[in-house]
Amino acid sequence: MESTTQKPRLLVTHPLFEPARRLLAEHFEAEYWNGPERIPRAELLRRIADKDGLICLLTEKVDEELLAVAPRLRLVATVSVGYDNIDLAACSRHGIAATNTPGVLDETTADFTWTLLLAVARRLLEGVELVQSGTWRGWSLDQLCGTDVWGKILGIVGFGRIGRAVARRARGFGMRILYSDAVRAPAETEAELGAEYRELDSLLGEADFVSLHVPLLPSTRHLIGAAELARMKPTAFLINTSRGPVVDEEALAQALERGQIAGAALDVYENEPRVHPGLLGRKNVVLAPHMASASLETRTRMAVMAAENAIALFSGRRPPNLLNPEVLDRLQSPQS
Ligand code: GLV
Repeated sequence: MESTTQKPRLLVTHPLFEPARRLLAEHFEAEYWNGPERIPRAELLRRIADKDGLICLLTEKVDEELLAVAPRLRLVATVSVGYDNIDLAACSRHGIAATNTPGVLDETTADFTWTLLLAVARRLLEGVELVQSGTWRGWSLDQLCGTDVWGKILGIVGFGRIGRAVARRARGFGMRILYSDAVRAPAETEAELGAEYRELDSLLGEADFVSLHVPLLPSTRHLIGAAELARMKPTAFLINTSRGPVVDEEALAQALERGQIAGAALDVYENEPRVHPGLLGRKNVVLAPHMASASLETRTRMAVMAAENAIALFSGRRPPNLLNPEVLDRLQSPQS
């Protein structure tokens, strides 16, 4: 029997994954953007006009301009933990709930942080290139000698869920763990993870590996700039799996050029997908295409989580990952 009630209309800017699509199909009339490239801005603005909800990626900017052309919109669900793509204050002004996908990607992102850290320290990409090029002439005592990871000092900047997941792995490498954060962790957490609190400047001066795990906020934009890079040891490496603008890329390129630090491994960039030319072509820099949470299991969970947030809101329930709770009392009952 077909229902006579019209389902809320969703715009979904990516085909997502089958489990999420199945869930959405039960509750919504979902229009998917299936193009090979991300949805062009003009297309997004055109398609959102008659929608009740938007499920988007971190590559879609949800700002006043978009909200102004979407009078029916009640929900914006980003399939990402970071939500710097969403103007939360504008959403709240328009009475629109915003949600993200925290938690499910912590372990996967921590795994990838270690992938990068180990790759840059142990010169993995140079080794792969040597073998792939067919020019490898066999084992040699001083070939591709990198830097030990075990027993070194790891400095974690941002000690939230992901920073802590990175710390748990560091224990297996017998590392000393330092962390800095706007808020000091409870003593039990420090004890459990064997992590010592430091002001950022001290951490930068002590760590052999500095790994960034802060959200992008006005206070964390260019958190690592020329002065901070100058504090790092010349033997230290910078790892960034957080957000590109946390690092001043121009300053990083200059620090690498001058040999001020030993290397860097980056998953995120200031102006994605553009990469600062000063970071390209360096043997001591590993560059990945914003893929830290990219396991099939995790990305599927993220998509399902976004779908569940949408279902909750349009079923009159509080979305589990609501970012702007102040909007709840302004929300009208779901459209029918
Ligand atoms: C990825 O960068 C995310 O924020 O989920």
